Amino acid sequence: MQEPKRYLITAALPYANGLKHIGHLAGAYLPADIYVRYLRAKKRDVVFVCGSDEHGTAIPIQAMKEGTTPQAIIDKYHEIIKQNFADLSISFDIYDRTSAAIHHETSREFFTALEQAGELETKETDQYFDEQAGSFLADRYIKGTCPNCGFTSAYGDQCEKCGTALSPDELINPVSTLSGAAPIKKKTTHWYLPLNRHEAFLRQWILEEHKEDWRANVLGQCKSWIDGGLQPRAVTRDLDWGIEVPLPEAKGKVLYVWFDAPIGYISATRTWAAQQQKDWKPYWYSKDTKLVHFIGKDNIVFHAIIFPVMLKLHGNILPDNVPSNEFLNLEGDKMSTSRNWKLDMQDYIDDFVKKENGGPQLVDALRYYLTLIAPETKDSEFTWKGFQDAVNSELVAIFGNFVNRTFVLMHKLTGGKVPPLHAEFLDQKDHDLAAAILETKEKMQTLLEGYKFREAQFELVDLARKGNRYMQEKEPWIKAKAGSSAQPAIDNCLHYCLQLCANLAILAHPFLPNTSKKMLHLMKVVDKLLDWENAGSLKLLSVGYSLRAPELLFRKIEDMEIQEQVDKLKNNSLPAQPTTATVEATTPAVPEKPAKAIIQFDDFAKIDLKVGTIRTAEKVEKADKLLKLSIDLGTETRTIVSGIALHFKPEEIIGKQVVVVANLAPRKMRGIESNGMILMAEDQSGKLHFVQPESMIQEGAGVS
Ligand code: 2FM
Ligand code: ZN
Repeated sequence: MQEPKRYLITAALPYANGLKHIGHLAGAYLPADIYVRYLRAKKRDVVFVCGSDEHGTAIPIQAMKEGTTPQAIIDKYHEIIKQNFADLSISFDIYDRTSAAIHHETSREFFTALEQAGELETKETDQYFDEQAGSFLADRYIKGTCPNCGFTSAYGDQCEKCGTALSPDELINPVSTLSGAAPIKKKTTHWYLPLNRHEAFLRQWILEEHKEDWRANVLGQCKSWIDGGLQPRAVTRDLDWGIEVPLPEAKGKVLYVWFDAPIGYISATRTWAAQQQKDWKPYWYSKDTKLVHFIGKDNIVFHAIIFPVMLKLHGNILPDNVPSNEFLNLEGDKMSTSRNWKLDMQDYIDDFVKKENGGPQLVDALRYYLTLIAPETKDSEFTWKGFQDAVNSELVAIFGNFVNRTFVLMHKLTGGKVPPLHAEFLDQKDHDLAAAILETKEKMQTLLEGYKFREAQFELVDLARKGNRYMQEKEPWIKAKAGSSAQPAIDNCLHYCLQLCANLAILAHPFLPNTSKKMLHLMKVVDKLLDWENAGSLKLLSVGYSLRAPELLFRKIEDMEIQEQVDKLKNNSLPAQPTTATVEATTPAVPEKPAKAIIQFDDFAKIDLKVGTIRTAEKVEKADKLLKLSIDLGTETRTIVSGIALHFKPEEIIGKQVVVVANLAPRKMRGIESNGMILMAEDQSGKLHFVQPESMIQEGAGVS
């Protein structure tokens, strides 16, 4: 797209049904904030919207758990989540809520427009009804036995034990969670968005027009969905919590939460515009607006397929990109609310930010580490040791150290002032440093505009690393011993180091906003310095200007602090819910695999092993255990049918690298020709693990 006139950046609206953890932060909010801060520094017209998602069954279910009302739940969590984001320097222009009157109005208008244009269909179906409670049952209100793994408390939409997506009809012995009674089937009418009518548009728009600029995980999930056959999606529900459907014949029905929640982005823009006395319409109707949705991977189809269809039918602009992150694991395991294996934003704030030796620098420490390990292309892992290492050996030892040394030496050797530059004494090292600053700025902006925040942050720290090396090579403290003849070289070195500090403040700002502000304070300069266009210049600080005394930018994280966190995590975690399935699976000890007969090297050399990346994955009809994968081997894409469906959901393995036996004879499985096999490792408990390179490498690479 041409240079946009304005940017509308959204981050997924979190459900206001509980505390949010750092996986949520790393998934959508932090990358969005980095991007927005960069755009603001570029002086672009940008609005950053978010808010609480306050509808759907998640809310009344939490109210039941806490013995209170849905309204009390949303009021409580909306405030906490909003404050958590503010405490972690997520700089929304507005953090709204979907219970707001303007949102109800916007959603009803949206529904009515689609309905009147004939873009919705109605259908009568049989749905579960609880006669004792006198109400239809949303999928989450029905529990039963999972047909896949035997877990006896699976929900009507998903089994939390094995992860399989279910429909209530698939549950064995369904019961209502409202009364405990067995539900009956009763007829009900609902409104549907016929996605099937839009297949050609979606294929063209996503798989052709965006095949280069959208992330592989997003494209992969979309392709699986579209290839799997698009179905009409119900956009109304029989529920008493939500936005009433604006039709007289739909009494007692509400809009499906996934219909109204993304419209929340529009309502939030309207609220923000009203506050700013601006017109909101260009943000949603004008083709020169760039709309970007930041989300986690469980939100992909809603933002890349369903909401765009709604937007198109309603005459709005479509998202230009939908950057989605994969999941962040914690200390070797998936984050889980039910097992309390997580680190909530609130806990980090209480244990680090609000402590006497905490504060804004520890906000930036978390932001730094989460960006360092951002799950941009595959799941990644937060460990307390990793956090400590990143802070101590990068933020403290590289970035903070460079700034501190510069300020200490400037006070010692140049009178606490920006020294003059003596052009005739400049040497190659000075020129190289100047070139590195400009090059870093250019690299970082390309990476930021391509949503590669992890790499962009690497470039930032690498520049500070270059600053340290430059100072080490110049040794102004040694030169000082030679007397006044060395002063021009000392001046030049510190002049450049100070200009580099000013550049680092600009380049660091999207990632480490509090550190950057502190650097402005040390340099006694105003916020205006942070304009991105200033980066690359070596004239940011004026000669003779006196600067403040050094102050450390970061403190070290002590062993004891991280040990406390690891202990807390382990001590407070809850066991996975016991189920008959786990008992059955674990009782007979997994027999050790018998050793195989010795082979010669030539036997092994016959096997052609290659690294590939899973591009699409889908279930094979009527085969519980099989997934059909398409695997990119660099020069070709293979179809491989693999027996891993009980262990992984198709959408969670897209983008993963695997080792493929590439010269295995083709084999037909359920009518599909499988061309190869992927290697998996099985642990003691029978869980499968991918055998894969340590980090992403070129597809087609040989394994030997
Ligand atoms: O997954 C979630 O947490 C949803 N509440 C996200 C909604 S995003 C948007 F559509 F509002
Ligand atoms: Zn199950």
